[in-house]
Amino acid sequence: MIDFPLIAVVLAAGKGTRFKSEKPKVVHQILGKPMLWYTIFAVRWIKPQKTVIVVGHKKDEVINAVNCDGCEFVYQQEQLGTGHAVYTAKDYFKDFDGYVLIINGDTPLVRGETLHNAGEYLKALIRYEGADLTNYRGYRNKSIAGVVLTARVPNPYGYGRVIKDKDHRVIKIVEEKDATNQEKQINEVNSGIYFFYAPYLTQALEKLENKNAQQEYYLTDVIEILRQEEKYVYALEIPDYTEILGVNDRLQLAGVENILKERYITFWALNGTTFHNPQSIWIEFDVDLSRDVEIHQNVVLQGKTSIDEGTVIEPNCIIKNSKIGKNVKILANSYIEDSEIQDNAVIGPFARIRGGSVIKEEAVIGNFVEVKNSVIGRKTNARHLSYLGDAEVGEEVNIGAGTITCNYDGFKKHKTVIKDRAFIGSDTMLVAPITIGEEAITGSGSVITKDVPDKALAIERNQQKIIENYAEKRKKKYEKN
Ligand code: UD1
Ligand code: CA
Repeated sequence: MIDFPLIAVVLAAGKGTRFKSEKPKVVHQILGKPMLWYTIFAVRWIKPQKTVIVVGHKKDEVINAVNCDGCEFVYQQEQLGTGHAVYTAKDYFKDFDGYVLIINGDTPLVRGETLHNAGEYLKALIRYEGADLTNYRGYRNKSIAGVVLTARVPNPYGYGRVIKDKDHRVIKIVEEKDATNQEKQINEVNSGIYFFYAPYLTQALEKLENKNAQQEYYLTDVIEILRQEEKYVYALEIPDYTEILGVNDRLQLAGVENILKERYITFWALNGTTFHNPQSIWIEFDVDLSRDVEIHQNVVLQGKTSIDEGTVIEPNCIIKNSKIGKNVKILANSYIEDSEIQDNAVIGPFARIRGGSVIKEEAVIGNFVEVKNSVIGRKTNARHLSYLGDAEVGEEVNIGAGTITCNYDGFKKHKTVIKDRAFIGSDTMLVAPITIGEEAITGSGSVITKDVPDKALAIERNQQKIIENYAEKRKKKYEKN
């Protein structure tokens, strides 16, 4: 965490023309969260005193999407360039005796640690210059204006090129469209992440001009302006260039999403999770995995999902916002959302567990069984082709194949209660609201509309008739015609 006065400014007002989208660029999602969320997360990780977000194009959509508690938003009505965007936020830092962290909102892969390290680097520079770190007021006359994060990228196309002197002080940053052929050869690029001493930044912003290929007010020009006054911005090259990748079109969005996914998989793999064919696996930020979890290909883990020790997830399962216990088996092609699966349960193959369900220990939910908003008790089996909705099912119950809780009467949903050790015959229709008592039995194919007492049998179907020799009679009838 940064231990000097710091205000963060995140630039997110641009339209993102290259996205060719109705939606503002920064709300496009990466692994289930808006792109801008990741940048804000990294910024807040170092705990600046304030986080100010510059919004403009479709600002309300951006504000809603990031849903950031404690962030402040300023409105840049016309997007005249990154320098203009920062200028729009100047009221937050013009009288501030500290630093301003500026970061582009389209750089989602930067790590909080990297921002922290840049802050430490800045402190070291100041110390080297002999400033009194405990008293930032003593710093005003010093020559250090800040730090810009840079990286060497395999393909620098589209980025501002960093031109430095031999002391790692930046001479200027040249945008792609303004660069000479020689400058275009430089592969050290501007990340769009800077720390500036606030009073210097404030002065320099006043002097920005838009005499360039794009007729924009470039924030990067601040560096050259300050240098003319012998105030220097140092380049800090960060080793992992992927952290600074900017997202300007949908291909870059996909590329960044893959890198992020790979980071999460690396983290969990080193923590003791086995991934089979990891490239095919989708895993989001809030997912939490324990040791000896085994995940097969094409598994999608979304939202706040946690999976406990020894659990195996077979191919093609989707799990959203769910808590999965220890030694659970989720067999292929199952879909689980907003639910809890307790230890040693078996789900699937081809099972669907919908919101609000709890599948208790050792229960088995088999093929083509749909469970919605229901509690399924310990060691209860529903192995084939059933719908259990708004049900409270006790322990060691057997739900026969084809059983359906008829929970909806066309107006309202009603509850089904099945008590411990009941035996529900195959193809029972349980017309809710209804209660089936402990150890009660229902006959196969029955439509049960009244409560069944404990240990009773409820059967609702016609007596079976036997007509001897019917096959012969039927044949004769056809021969006559
Ligand atoms: C910018 C840098 C470039 C750097 C690159 C890193 C400038 C002039 N160039 O270029 O040196 O290598 O980022 O990714 O700064 N924005 C506003 N208001 C505006 C214009 C932009 O808020 O008026 C926001 C955008 O929403 C975006 C960010 O600023 O999040 C960067 O703008 P963008 O147009 O993408 O800049 P680049 O051309 O990528
Ligand atoms: Ca950009």
